[in-house]
Amino acid sequence: MYDATTKGVKMKTKTISIANQKGGVGKSTTAITMAAILKSKGFNVLLIDTDAQCNASRVYGAQIEDEATLFDVILAKNTIKAVEAIQETQKGDIIPSDSLLRNADVTLKGDVLKFKTKIDAIKKMGKYDYIIIDTNPALNSLLYSALVASDDVIIPVEPAKSSIEGLVQLKETTEAIQENENKDLKIAGILITKFNERTRLGISARDTFKIAAEQFDTILYSSEIRRSQKVPDAEADDMTLIEYAEGSTSSVDYISFVDEYLTREKENGN
Ligand SMILES: Nc1ncnc2c1ncn2[C@@H]1O[C@H](COP(=O)(O)OP(=O)(O)OP(=O)(O)O)[C@@H](O)[C@H]1O
Ligand SMILES: [Mg+2]
Repeated sequence: MYDATTKGVKMKTKTISIANQKGGVGKSTTAITMAAILKSKGFNVLLIDTDAQCNASRVYGAQIEDEATLFDVILAKNTIKAVEAIQETQKGDIIPSDSLLRNADVTLKGDVLKFKTKIDAIKKMGKYDYIIIDTNPALNSLLYSALVASDDVIIPVEPAKSSIEGLVQLKETTEAIQENENKDLKIAGILITKFNERTRLGISARDTFKIAAEQFDTILYSSEIRRSQKVPDAEADDMTLIEYAEGSTSSVDYISFVDEYLTREKENGN
């Protein structure tokens, strides 16, 4: 259990998917930055990149060619254990993605429990406090499989008119999973990213997403991630935001968000 005064340690591995099928809302940034912040607090963290764009894998400098990737674990051969695909990089531990995962949708359809089986094996190792999953921008079997394997879902949203569309589908998907494969799946909260309080859209987003969160039986995080040029700049240099610009507005906001996540987790007793 998290204790602000001691090195982070949890009793059980918690798996968190960062999900929103809408593209470009800040999923990868949130997954990578949250993993970095949890690690800096002393938690053992594994990042899993399920997106065929391989953004998180690139930032971690993971080897994709000639190494086992998530593709090998969940699609290619049944013989590859998830633990064999973990790469220990300077940024942290990661199971990298592979552009071959582009074709995962059709192949995985018949077996949405496979990902969970593999993740459960990692959980059993007891090494990690948190497994963070960066998901792909499509409501397909790969995202479904990641959610089946997760305890929590965090939904990053950007203040845009079209942002609410799609959230309903994601909510319906989580409900279907709760009824069928994973009753413990929980939408932990909605996180506003790329926030600019100087725009009307930014301000109205707060109200819009607050209402959406209530309808979804979840919360809107009071921490908001402000827009900052440091985010794309860090990405261009294949660095985590925390490494690149720890004092930047977005970094400060992500640190406050992770503290909020941990506080709520503690309050909920899990
Ligand atoms: N707080 C922010 N301030 C400024 N730019 C941001 C911020 N968060 C994300 N971005 C930029 O927005 C783009 C999309 O971010 P990111 O890759 O994290 O989104 P995503 O949801 O993972 O995208 P995809 O759906 O393609 O996987 C990137 O260019 C990133 O640098
Ligand atoms: Mg992404």
